[in-house]
Amino acid sequence: MSDALEISEEAVAKLLSAALDALNEAKTVADLKQLRSTHVGENSPLSRMNASLKDVPQDQRAAAGKIVGQARAKLGQAYAEAENRIAKAESAAKLLKETVDVTTWSPRITQGARHPLTMLQEQAADVFVSMGWEIAEGPELEHEWFNFDSLNFDEDHPARALQDTFFVEPVDQRLLLRTHTSPVQMRSLLSRPLPLYIVAPGKTFRTDELDATHTPVFSQIEGIAIDKNITMAHLKGILLHFAKAMFGEEAKVRLRANYFPFTEPSAEFDLWHPNFKEGPRWIEWGGCGMVHPNLLRSAGIDPEVYQGFAFGMGIERTLMFRADISDMREMIEGDIRFSKQFGVVG
Ligand code: DAH
Repeated sequence: MSDALEISEEAVAKLLSAALDALNEAKTVADLKQLRSTHVGENSPLSRMNASLKDVPQDQRAAAGKIVGQARAKLGQAYAEAENRIAKAESAAKLLKETVDVTTWSPRITQGARHPLTMLQEQAADVFVSMGWEIAEGPELEHEWFNFDSLNFDEDHPARALQDTFFVEPVDQRLLLRTHTSPVQMRSLLSRPLPLYIVAPGKTFRTDELDATHTPVFSQIEGIAIDKNITMAHLKGILLHFAKAMFGEEAKVRLRANYFPFTEPSAEFDLWHPNFKEGPRWIEWGGCGMVHPNLLRSAGIDPEVYQGFAFGMGIERTLMFRADISDMREMIEGDIRFSKQFGVVG
C-alpha cells in the first residue's frame, strides 16, 4: 500500500478543487477529454482513493466513503455542466462559421417577363370590368357561321375569301381561325341574359404576311352592350372613357361614318393621342356602330325593345402607338429584351 492515498478531508478537498479549476479552464471537447483522464477517470486520484476504500479499517470506512463519495458526486455534476457548456459554445461557433451572407452578390437567374400585349389586354379589360362589364371568351377555331353569317356578312363578302381567312381542312366543315373577335358578339347574344355588357379580348388570325405593319396572328378587344334606350351617344361616351383610361385625360375620340355588315350605322373611330412621339394627333383606332337589328332578331331579341352598340380594336395597334413601337415584329418575336422594357411582372 505504498502508493495508497491518504483519505482525509483536506486531501480530498484539494483534489476536488484542482479538478474543478481544471474544469473551469476547459474550453473544448479535447480539453474535456484530457481532463477526464487526469481528474475523473479510473486513474484519477479521486477514483483511486475510492478504489482503496476497501483497505480502510472498518471503523473509519464509512466516514472516508462519505468524504470521497461527496467529492466524486460534486465532480460528476461539475463535469456534466462543463460538458454542456462546451457543447453549446461549440455549436454556436459552428453556426457562426456557417452563416450565409444573404446580401452577397450572386449570379442572377433571368426570370420570364409577362408579354406587354398580355398586360395591355388585361389593362384594357380592367377598364371595362371596373364599370361592371363582364369578360367573355370565344373559341379561336370558330365556325364560319359565327365569324361571318351570323354577323350579317353576305355570301360573297370579300372578307370571306380564302386570301384573307385561314379555313381549316376539311373545308366542308366550315371551320376557320376567327378573323376578328366579333363572333363573340353573337355567342354572347345567344347565351347571356339581357341587359348585356361584355368585353372579349383575344387572338385573331388573317392570312397576312408578317412585316412591319402586318402579322397573321394578332389580337383584338371587342365590346358589346345591349340594353333599353341605348344610343350612339352611349357608344361615344364609353369610347371616350376608355381612351382617357388608356391615354390620359387629354385623350379624345371622333367617329367617322363607315360600313360594317353587323352594325348600322357604323363608324370608324379615331383617337386623339395627346402624347404621341411626333406630337399630338388623330390616329385610326377601331370600328364600331349600333348593333344591326338583324343580329338581335336572329338571337330572338326584339330590336324595338332592346338596342345596343359594339366596337372592336386591335391590341397590337394600341400598344404600338402607346409605346412608340414602329415594327410589329418586335411584339411577336418573343425576345425577352423587348418585354423587359415594359417591366417584369410575375
Ligand atoms: N370586327 C371588325 C374588324 O375586325 C371591327 C369592328 C367593327 C368591331 C365594328 C365591332 C364593330 O364591334 O361594331 O375589323
